[in-house]
Amino acid sequence: MKLIRAIVRPEKLGDVLKALFQAEVHGLTVTHVKGHGGETELVETYRGTTVKMELHDKVMLDIGVSDHFVEPTVQAILQSARTGEVGDGKIFVIPVEKIYRIRTGEEDEAAVTPVTVSP
Ligand SMILES: Nc1ncnc2c1ncn2[C@@H]1O[C@H](COP(=O)(O)OP(=O)(O)OP(=O)(O)O)[C@@H](O)[C@H]1O
Ligand SMILES: [Mg+2]
Repeated sequence: MKLIRAIVRPEKLGDVLKALFQAEVHGLTVTHVKGHGGETELVETYRGTTVKMELHDKVMLDIGVSDHFVEPTVQAILQSARTGEVGDGKIFVIPVEKIYRIRTGEEDEAAVTPVTVSP
């Protein structure tokens, strides 16, 4: 199991959610964050040169998946979040030791398999 943590442009969130839905990835957490992608902007000050580190609004998606969902999830994000310009973001694939679904006590793969809720 992995936690896929993707940091993307806020304006790409709709496209990313659609791509994830089409890839049958349904469970996720979205957090609005601020981040910096490594670019440095030089700013002159009267004492010399300083480096300005500006923070940009980004959206972070956390998606817990079983192993066979890692590749389709990553591909869905790569294809939907890319503009080709600097600042498109990053995807981290993080090992997960254990997952529990609180309601049922199910563990691991069973805990990240969506349940169909009847109306
Ligand atoms: N090494 C990192 N660790 C944690 N978060 C990061 C890291 N690099 C980038 N981020 C997050 O991703 C956001 C977007 O980063 P950005 O797209 O600039 O990444 P990049 O690797 O520098 O790619 P690019 O070359 O397109 O700029 C940042 O604002 C930050 O929130
Ligand atoms: Mg960058």
